[in-house]
Amino acid sequence: MHYAHILGTGSYLPDRCMSNDDLSKIVDTSDEWITSRTGIKERHIAAPEEQTSDLAVAAAQRALADAGIQANDIDLIIVATSTPDMTFPATACIVQQKLGIHGCAAFDVQAVCAGFMYALTTANAYIKSGMARKVLVIGAETFSRLLDWQDRRTCVLFGDGAGAVVLGASDETGGIIHTKLKADGRYQHILQTPGKIANGVIDGAPYLFMDGQAVYKFAVKALAQIASEVIQEAGMTAADIDWIIPHQANYRIIESTARHLKLPMDKVIVTLAQHGNTSAASIPLALDTGIKEGRIQRGETLLLEGIGGGFAWGAVILKY
Ligand code: UT7
Repeated sequence: MHYAHILGTGSYLPDRCMSNDDLSKIVDTSDEWITSRTGIKERHIAAPEEQTSDLAVAAAQRALADAGIQANDIDLIIVATSTPDMTFPATACIVQQKLGIHGCAAFDVQAVCAGFMYALTTANAYIKSGMARKVLVIGAETFSRLLDWQDRRTCVLFGDGAGAVVLGASDETGGIIHTKLKADGRYQHILQTPGKIANGVIDGAPYLFMDGQAVYKFAVKALAQIASEVIQEAGMTAADIDWIIPHQANYRIIESTARHLKLPMDKVIVTLAQHGNTSAASIPLALDTGIKEGRIQRGETLLLEGIGGGFAWGAVILKY
């Protein structure tokens, strides 16, 4: 039996930082409204020439250095993104080329803000089955490019960034302990970017749409349920969890999951204020931040959980 251990993590944020006050010069909003409703204070925005793959590569290089391995050692690259560089090829193939390696399997997963949960679960399955030994799992997004910058209901919420994890196979127990994924396409209409390119023109609305209150209610319930289920199925209790690393969308949703598990907020990694919602990048960004700040220690048990468009959601328990 093989176990998928985290060998290293890395993350990257574009240089340009946009505060709530900066946003209040573009749309009718305020720092007070954004902070009190979401917990977000600032977000990073990719430079015009920066592609999702550039953010992904920067995070991946840091994760590889952290793991002490060469890009050549990787035998699978999975990129979770809903903002690929182009319709095809997969951003993972572009990342592979930019890392200067060739031949290993590379593909994207598209599960919006749950993307990293889906990517990590897929990587775990490859390692457990013996199909891969070293996997680069990346969440990378340039959500700023999906936003209608005149729509204050959405443009204040999102940011750009990338986070990466290098997983390695080991015969020693530990690493990823249990994973759980769910989806329910009946709720696709409450969070979507319905436009697409067809016959050379944009067909449908090309901007992100969200019914915030419907998403909020769905997220609170679904995350509480999946967190309880994944803990129970792992044969654990909430008391065994050292850190929750949640998707960073709304402080009140994060608090609600912690409250449901009866865990204090000082056991939760929250990067929302600095990052905003970076979709598939948010969990690996928070994970890397918690590790690099020296809060998350080797041997500790982590609960990662995320939810987003689809609807798709998932949770992973692992020993770091
Ligand atoms: O990553 C995927 C998961 N996404 C989420 O989990 C997001 C979940 N939803 C939310 O986080 C919240 O629903 C929001 C933060 C998006 C919105 O907060 P809310 O408390 O649900 O506000 P609301 O949509 O009910 O809007 C309340 C008021 C409205 O004004 P009226 O109609 O009451 O006069 C909005 O027009 O706030 C207004 N509003 C704003 N005001 C200032 C909406 N956006 C803004 C804004 N600045 N940026």
